Amino acid sequence: MCGIVGCLGREDAQEVIVKGLKTLEYRGYDSAGVAIHNGEFINRSRARGKLVNLEKKLNEEPIRGNLGIGHTRWATHGPATEKNAHPHMIGGVSVVHNGIIENYAELRDELIAGGSEIYSDTDTELIAHLINIKVKQTNDLLTAVKEVIPRLQGAYAVLVLSERHPDEMVAFTNGPPLLVGFAEKSFIVASDMLAIVPYTKNIAYLSENEVVHIQKDSYKFYSNDLKPIDKKIEEISWSAEQVEKSGYPYYMLKEIFEQPRSMAKSLEPYINIETQSIEMPALESYVSDIKSLEQIYIVSCGTSFYSGMVGEYLLEKMSGVSCKVDIASEFRYRSPKLVKNSLLIVISQSGETADTLAALRLAKEQGVRTLSLCNVQHSSMDRESDIQLYMNAGVEIGVASTKAFICSLSILNLLAGYIAKVNGNMKPEEERALVKSLLATPSHMESVLTYDKFFAEAAERLKDYKGFLYLGRGVNFPIALEGALKLKELAYMHAEGYAAGEMKHGPLALIDEQMAVVMIAPKDDLYDKAISNLETAKARGAQVISIGTVNDERLKNLSINFLSIPEVPWNINPFLAVIPLQLLSLHVASALGHDVDQPRNLAKSVTVE
Ligand code: F6R
Repeated sequence: MCGIVGCLGREDAQEVIVKGLKTLEYRGYDSAGVAIHNGEFINRSRARGKLVNLEKKLNEEPIRGNLGIGHTRWATHGPATEKNAHPHMIGGVSVVHNGIIENYAELRDELIAGGSEIYSDTDTELIAHLINIKVKQTNDLLTAVKEVIPRLQGAYAVLVLSERHPDEMVAFTNGPPLLVGFAEKSFIVASDMLAIVPYTKNIAYLSENEVVHIQKDSYKFYSNDLKPIDKKIEEISWSAEQVEKSGYPYYMLKEIFEQPRSMAKSLEPYINIETQSIEMPALESYVSDIKSLEQIYIVSCGTSFYSGMVGEYLLEKMSGVSCKVDIASEFRYRSPKLVKNSLLIVISQSGETADTLAALRLAKEQGVRTLSLCNVQHSSMDRESDIQLYMNAGVEIGVASTKAFICSLSILNLLAGYIAKVNGNMKPEEERALVKSLLATPSHMESVLTYDKFFAEAAERLKDYKGFLYLGRGVNFPIALEGALKLKELAYMHAEGYAAGEMKHGPLALIDEQMAVVMIAPKDDLYDKAISNLETAKARGAQVISIGTVNDERLKNLSINFLSIPEVPWNINPFLAVIPLQLLSLHVASALGHDVDQPRNLAKSVTVE
């Protein structure tokens, strides 16, 4: 969480940093700030709340200089006040930080005992104090950082400036992502490539326990103990245009509408169009392991957890291999004993979610093969897993995940098909049918996107319900959970997702005329059971909005609003059913006046536990 950007070499450091922070605001928006070296002094400006408040301040009082750092905050230590906003500045040292310093209390006591005055409630200020003390002793910024790093426990990515060193910036990380971009005559360091792509596609990733020292015309990468290391400069494929809103009022709406194209792109690398077969080169050298696979684990968080739940149905039904899905934040605390011949899959848009990463590491410790399904290439999970598959969803900026969810579903379908094929559970004609149905899905999705207009109008009425109950069965149960999560996070309304068959075990008591019931019941093998569950709710006054297969009069008659989706195989229904739910949440949130792209209290990349 928190977004950090640093820039050295451009006259307009402020402009580069603020523009970069805008692309990183998804990581936190409690406060923001910049510190810029003008060759003589470091000047700082900070503001509480969203970046726009800082921009206003900087418009009135710009800060000039060609070296600077900036930060957008997701508060961990201390409330979202200007006093706690980064950059923190002690003596001539200015610091921005993403992460948490776990030995914060001990360091604070030690600094106070040594006579330091502490100004904020943050852990970051302590880093500035420690480096300032060392800069004074050594008059060398890099050495000062080297001496402070061993004092810091926890996860951190830090950028440092020093007033005495007008042409230098030092950055270091112990976990959270940090990248250096090599643009013409300037260096940009940031938490995410989004802040860098407008200037260059040439980047290098800092790995855990690495430091970069950037000077006017040169740079050097080191390990924590300052041993020089060689770093590969890579070219990234994402473009600056992907970071724009392209005329949509929200990134999320743009991303919802991009889903058909994103899904088509996600399939491309894994499908042989001529033979209509699945190809997964990343798995080819593991074919014998797959044949003897006894257990699959999927571990992930939030929306990625729900795609994992869909994956559980897909993998078990298609491949016949037992599959278990876990919430990453719980997984390691039940001390799991993983089966030897197993595969642990982590699903993560960002590839950085702290709990999911910890699950991957636990599996590796137990000698279990790991597979990551990420959107962000070169992310920590991507780098640390044995096998890599990609969502290929393109840049996702809206805090609420949409197209990454769709793309992870498409890859999970292919993975289930691939494992089924390898272990003899899928015939060639079944494989062709699966591929064909996936290739046809994007155009079906286009037709479902027309519900945008319906929800834009219905939102005024829907926002007055006291709560929403989302119901589904089988592969549509996780879709119900995802629908409820989206409404909670965007509209801040009470919403719950339930397996429809569970209603009679308690939740039926919630039903009255003020409770909207969103039923996801396309025609599949659980359809009849789902309809009887719905009838029970309807008999108790449920106000039903349903998503079902085209021409389903039975479901239509039970509903105030019936939203039809094309008739498709059971495994394709989730792709189509989730779209109306995304649109419902977006429009209700918008009707309530909420910021759809930046819901309160949230951040996109959750790099803290
Ligand atoms: C909800 C949402 C979150 C993320 C979760 C995991 O719309 O976006 O629930 O799905 O924080 O993030 P990743 O997939 O990056 O691990």
